[in-house]
Amino acid sequence: MNVSALSLTRLPGSISGFLQLASLLGLLLFLFKAAQLYLRRQWLLKAFQQFPSAPSHWLFGHKIQKDQELQQILSWVEKFPSAFPRWLWGSKAHMVIYDPDYMKVILGRSDPKASGTYRFLAPWIGYGLLLINEQTWFQHRRMLTPAFHYDILKPYVGIVADSVRVMLDKWEKLIDKDSSVEVFQHISMMTLDSIMKCAFSYQGNVQLDRHSQSYIKAIGDLNNLFFDRVRNAFHQNDTIYGLSSDGRLFHRACQLAHEHTDQVIKERKAQLQNERELEKIRRKRRLDFLDILLFAKMENGSSLSDEDLRAEVDTFMFEGHDTTASAISWIFYALAAHPEHQKKCREEVQSLLGDGASITWDHMDQMPYTTMCIKEALRIYPPVPVVVRELKTPVTFPDGRSLPKGIIVTLSFYGLHHNSKAWPNPEVYDPFRFAPDSSRHSHSFLPFSGGARNCIGKQFAMNELKVAVALTLLRFELLPDPTRIPFPIPRLVLKSKNGIHLRLRKLH
Ligand code: HEM
Repeated sequence: MNVSALSLTRLPGSISGFLQLASLLGLLLFLFKAAQLYLRRQWLLKAFQQFPSAPSHWLFGHKIQKDQELQQILSWVEKFPSAFPRWLWGSKAHMVIYDPDYMKVILGRSDPKASGTYRFLAPWIGYGLLLINEQTWFQHRRMLTPAFHYDILKPYVGIVADSVRVMLDKWEKLIDKDSSVEVFQHISMMTLDSIMKCAFSYQGNVQLDRHSQSYIKAIGDLNNLFFDRVRNAFHQNDTIYGLSSDGRLFHRACQLAHEHTDQVIKERKAQLQNERELEKIRRKRRLDFLDILLFAKMENGSSLSDEDLRAEVDTFMFEGHDTTASAISWIFYALAAHPEHQKKCREEVQSLLGDGASITWDHMDQMPYTTMCIKEALRIYPPVPVVVRELKTPVTFPDGRSLPKGIIVTLSFYGLHHNSKAWPNPEVYDPFRFAPDSSRHSHSFLPFSGGARNCIGKQFAMNELKVAVALTLLRFELLPDPTRIPFPIPRLVLKSKNGIHLRLRKLH
């Protein structure tokens, strides 16, 4: 027998041997993974034993119908005091908290952002202020805080007012008598316009530009895709997710978002090549957001890499417009649904501003009733419904119950703001909850979170909300569309499943 005939007869044997070995290894790997998941589940069950929750399937966790998440959470908030464990699947669960005392404890600590959840955002917004932790976070927060000093924020009131007027002019042309307008998309364009002009010194006309529309669309897609990925056991692995259709969509949406932010950085860098522009900046006592970053990079020995800069721009571009768009849209809806409060706000704004032609920083704290109505809308519709932390040390709550290190804690601001223990009749829109003489728990109202990692843009945002409400009420009466009542769904920001449709009646 020759050599080649010999090897041919041996081949089937060696293949089957290899297959046997591979199956054995596969089985071992499977058993190892199963044991790991089993042990993780046992550990979680033990950690949560002091916290009752609704029955859940050992493998599929708590099954919640699509888009019923908020409704389901609210029924559990009523049933289980302070907190409950929410099972996503067999070995994945987090503790949802919604009690003011619990919030105070967690926000008073320095637990990091939960990396298992937030890492899914990294390909999009990078490791900017929202995602970084510890020393790097501290350095970046200190570097960027001056961008929100009131000297900087003062002239922004006029810039935001101009953006709002562009939107209102569009609405005037758009409306006919009885049809309603989906306001969320218009408001998103307006808030993007504002943040780009204020923080990024952008000079173009964002609200009429098609590129900005595709950025807004990409942000909407990323919101949905992130929400779905967190809840899908098979999409936790980056390689598997990357091969899935959702993963490919996510990748494409990230590319679109990055094209937008890259363009903004490029244009500002080009402007700063101009000596006169550079001189103007050098003479300023404080710099706008993007200029702080660009100058920090130019400084010798700066630790800010290109990647860091891009991450901060992506973070602020998103955080700086999607949150405020959600807030303004829901405030408009709340005012449309409560005409008596809308009328009082309008009267206050009319007597303060006349026709609104010259709204300034000084007006911002002179509209108390409107501010009460804005806050009450932020309570019922918190623009950021939840944030997530990972306990770096064990914690004991004031009622004596405790959790070990490593547990993921979801701070549900939506649950907190609708918790009848903190807010009697929570579903009732009552701006007098925020009357100057009213009292409440220091941690019962947290639209901007609290503690060291609260929202850096809070003051900017509150001013933008006031300007948008004041100028809009001077021009339009807002009415609900009874055929399309908004249906809140949680995403990175609070959205409505069917959009936010309002009827707009021009005032004479
Ligand atoms: C109504 C509007 C807004 C709401 C409700 C809101 C809410 C929040 C909340 C709840 C957090 C805490 C996030 C967490 O702990 O994971 C946060 C953080 C943050 N917000 Fe806002 N935000 C708003 C507007 C803005 C604006 C306009 C900007 C930028 C101009 C901004 C930039 C940020 C950044 C960078 C962080 C991370 C801060 C840190 O970790 O140091 N936000 N915001």
